[in-house]
Amino acid sequence: MRHALVFGGTGQIGEPLIDRLRNGGWRVTALSRNPQRDEPGVTWLQGAFDAMPVLPAQVEAIISCGPLDAFSHWYARSGPGAPRVIAFGSTSVMVKQHSVDPEERDVAQRLQLAEDRLTTAARERGASPTILRPTLVYGAARDATLSRIARIAHRVRWFPLPRRANGLRQPVHVGDLAAAVVDCIGATGAFDQAFDLPGGETLQYREMVRRVLRVLEPPAHLLELPLPVFEMAVRIAQSRGIATGFGDAAIERMRRDLVFDATPARDAFGYAPRAFAPKASMFPRAG
Ligand SMILES: NC(=O)c1ccc[n+]([C@@H]2O[C@H](COP(=O)([O-])OP(=O)(O)OC[C@H]3O[C@@H](n4cnc5c(N)ncnc54)[C@H](OP(=O)(O)O)[C@@H]3O)[C@@H](O)[C@H]2O)c1
Repeated sequence: MRHALVFGGTGQIGEPLIDRLRNGGWRVTALSRNPQRDEPGVTWLQGAFDAMPVLPAQVEAIISCGPLDAFSHWYARSGPGAPRVIAFGSTSVMVKQHSVDPEERDVAQRLQLAEDRLTTAARERGASPTILRPTLVYGAARDATLSRIARIAHRVRWFPLPRRANGLRQPVHVGDLAAAVVDCIGATGAFDQAFDLPGGETLQYREMVRRVLRVLEPPAHLLELPLPVFEMAVRIAQSRGIATGFGDAAIERMRRDLVFDATPARDAFGYAPRAFAPKASMFPRAG
C-alpha cells in the first residue's frame, strides 16, 4: 500500500486531502500539534516541526498543507526518504511582492525563500518537488477572506465594499486543491515544478462577494460606498475590533486584477477546478 506523510492534515485543505488519499487506497501518517483520533488507514502522530516524533523511515510522498516556511526549514535538515515532496505555497508570493505594505512584502519574500529552500533540499536528496500555489481559498467555512466576510454579513445583514471593487478574482475550492495534490503525485509533468492553482471561474471582486451574500441564510445585501466613506467605515469597524488587519493594501487590491493561468497545471496533471457556485454550508453560520 502506498504511504503518504501529511503535515497540516487538520487544516481546511488537509482534511479533504486525507479523505482523498484514504479513498484512493493510500495509507496516511499525519502530524498534528494536538491529539487526533486515528481512523482506518490514517495514523495521527502528535508533534511539531521543533518536536518531531518518530516518523516512518520511508514513504512515497511527503505533503505539506501547513505553513511552508516552517515545513521547508524542517525538510531541509531532516525527514524520511521520499521520491515526492509536495507543498502548498501561495500566489501571495507574486501578489504581495510589490505591495505598499512592508509586512506584505516580507510575507512574499519569506514565501519565495521557503519555495527555494524546499526545492533545493529536495533536489539534493534526489526527490522531485512540486509547489502548489492556490489563489483565494474557500469551501470549508474556515478561510480568511470569504468566511470572514460571511461572518460580518451574518451579524449586520449587509456588507460594505468601495465602489468599483472590480478587480478580477479566481476563488478556488478546497476540494479542488485536495484533488490537485493526489493527481500530481504520480504525474511526471508535475515533477520539479511550481503551479498556480486558480479556481475555475474568473469574476469581479464585487460579484464574488455578492454571490456569497446571496446564499447566506438569511441573505445579506451588498452596500457599495464611495471610497472615502468606505475607508471611514473600516476605521470605525477596526476601533470596535472588527476587520482588524485589513489595511490600505487590501483595499487597493480590490480594484486590481489577480489572475493566474491554470493551463500549466491542467496540462501537467489534469487540473480542472469548479466554477464559483457558493452554498450556505461553505461559510460559517450566524452566532
Ligand atoms: N487559506 C488560503 O486562502 C490560502 C491561500 C493560498 C495559500 N494557502 C496555503 O495553503 C496551505 C494550507 O492552507 P490552510 O488554510 O488549510 O492552512 P492552515 O489552516 O493555516 O494550516 C493547516 C494546518 O497546519 C498546521 N499548522 C498551522 N500552523 C502551524 C505551525 N506554526 N506549526 C506546525 N503546524 C502548523 C495546523 O495543524 P495542527 O493545528 O493540527 O498542528 C493547521 O490545521 C498553507 O500553506 C497556506 O499558506 C492558503
